[in-house]
Amino acid sequence: MTSKSYAIPKFDHNNSTPLTIEQYHDLYQASINEPDNFWDIQGQRLDWTKPYTKVKDTRFNKGDVKIDWYADGELNVCTNCVDRHLPDHADQSAIIWEADSPGHSKHINYQELHDEICKLANGLKSLGVKKGDRVVIYMPMVPEAAYAMLACARLGAIHSVIFAGFSPHAIADRIIDCEAKVVITSDISKRGGKSLPLKANVDEALARDDVTTIEKTIVFNHDDTEMPLLDGQIWWHKLTENCDTNCPAEPMNAEDPLFILYTSGSTGQPKGLVHTTGGYLVYASLTHQMIFDYKPGEVYWCAADVGWVTGHTYIVYGPLANRATTVMFEGIPTYPDERRIGQIIDNHNVNILYTAPTAIRALMAKGDLAAKDSHRDSLRLLGSVGEPINPEAWQWYYEVVGKSRCPIVDTWWQTETGGAMITPLASSTKLKPGSATFPFFGVQPALVDAEGNELEGENEGNLIIKDSWPGQARTIHGDHKRFEETYFSAYENVYFTGDGCKRDADGYYWITGRVDDVLNVSGHRLGTAEIESSLVAHEKVAEAAVVGYPHDIKGQGIYVYITPISGTEVTEELTKSVRDWVRHDLSPIATPDMIQWTNGLPKTRSGKIMRRILRKIAADDFAQLGDTSTLADPSVVDSIIENRLNR
Ligand code: WT7
Repeated sequence: MTSKSYAIPKFDHNNSTPLTIEQYHDLYQASINEPDNFWDIQGQRLDWTKPYTKVKDTRFNKGDVKIDWYADGELNVCTNCVDRHLPDHADQSAIIWEADSPGHSKHINYQELHDEICKLANGLKSLGVKKGDRVVIYMPMVPEAAYAMLACARLGAIHSVIFAGFSPHAIADRIIDCEAKVVITSDISKRGGKSLPLKANVDEALARDDVTTIEKTIVFNHDDTEMPLLDGQIWWHKLTENCDTNCPAEPMNAEDPLFILYTSGSTGQPKGLVHTTGGYLVYASLTHQMIFDYKPGEVYWCAADVGWVTGHTYIVYGPLANRATTVMFEGIPTYPDERRIGQIIDNHNVNILYTAPTAIRALMAKGDLAAKDSHRDSLRLLGSVGEPINPEAWQWYYEVVGKSRCPIVDTWWQTETGGAMITPLASSTKLKPGSATFPFFGVQPALVDAEGNELEGENEGNLIIKDSWPGQARTIHGDHKRFEETYFSAYENVYFTGDGCKRDADGYYWITGRVDDVLNVSGHRLGTAEIESSLVAHEKVAEAAVVGYPHDIKGQGIYVYITPISGTEVTEELTKSVRDWVRHDLSPIATPDMIQWTNGLPKTRSGKIMRRILRKIAADDFAQLGDTSTLADPSVVDSIIENRLNR
């Protein structure tokens, strides 16, 4: 590429500009050659109360990592997502909410969205919530979850959303880690016809002696149930009934935190990744517009949960910043049956559907029921996220759901990246099923070998990113050292993703999955260390090792090897009790699929468990176990193979 400046367009959410593949390549080069210029122009898509004068100030040197974007600018995320659309589009639907039970839905327009957010923000203020305070949100997929996030953003309070499937134990750990002052929850949540006791889970978490920071709990009355409130608890509708529908927005520095979101790593407790204000919103809105080629007025449905980063960036912040109509679905795509997804598309004339491979495989498993009783003619684009999509699922999604008319954007990214990083652009990229294709603007992926040598051309290695992008997480809450160690120490001066990846002869990227001890179960990220520490807390478990194995629907299943406390009689009830233990201690998504009891685990002479071997046995691929000569007791392996579980 020449040093001559390419005319970088400003992408404005009001005027969608589809790109050709040549324009993509030129603009991509320009974004790498002139990042300051590129991101200066794109930063102008937001309304700033104080314009920035400096765009990018970043370095990835371990011990001295710096990630600053637009650092002297000021803005408010909530006004950018809501208020700026009011003068001309107050009546446009911002959120279409589809309830768990079929036939119940409602539209919330931008004016109503504004008013509800302001009422809650004023309510929060009356409870003493101010800029910088942490607020935990543990909510079902109802519009109030989005109001809560945006009300925090309006006040400058930092939200931490906890997925409603998590246990009291997980809630407590997160509250302690982020020292939250307020919890916003709901009486219950409804999913797939079942209800979950959210408030009761919060009560249990708050009852723990080591949970000391919470001053107030706000309870949304979702089910109209009578439920006694404890001290310090207040109903959402009581708190907000007399609150004003206007609330001034706090001007925030671009680098002030917007939210903390916990995710699993390969060791220890979940990490609270911190995302900030300016760069995050620029990246969320630009990627949402460009990847989906989104035009205001279209109905866009990201079928994720706000408890995950996908819900933050592509249900709430990106779409609303772009004046989208965003669908929030409370339920699951297979309830009451597989036809639901098509019915929702038809009922709301959905143009774009963005979901996860695990959901696609669950629908596919029921034959073509998903295509019955709906025509889905409104669809023009499909998206996939969360794990590699296998070619069979891709084809089925393309042919059956999209009737061979709609391109599929397979978007690779992570909680840490804030937004999609390797992804097709709807308007231009020629697709290959199973490939996330090319990097987004400003993103510089590379493949390295174990020593960190860069691998050129057609190759396979570990995926790193060479330079910063605006949506990147800035730190781990309360533990910047861990942030640097996790992401910037495996290789020098680059960000390490934890993923393996191939690049083909045409330059397409193919993510192969995690290369660390992180599992991806139904698109949910789980650390083996977390599950192991839960297992050993069970009274009959002496030692446990957890690995992933290929699973038809979930992508990866959880395979557990356990040695019992000596003298324990291993029974079916005991196995069930261990399974239920993890389910309650962590979350239903962490429930072991396979539990194999064993008298010993393969360990090196220094006592390290050789997971490589356990992984192979769990995958039924033990013909070549590699070198086992360093094991303290090689006979353990034969016994584990002999007693392996069938599936
Ligand atoms: C891990 C991140 C991205 C938001 C939801 C998950 C895997 C994600 C893809 C994809 C292959 C993918 C990676 C990544 N992953 N998207 N399109 N193709 N793998 O966020 O919970 O932080 O998990 O999900 O392994 O590292 P997350």
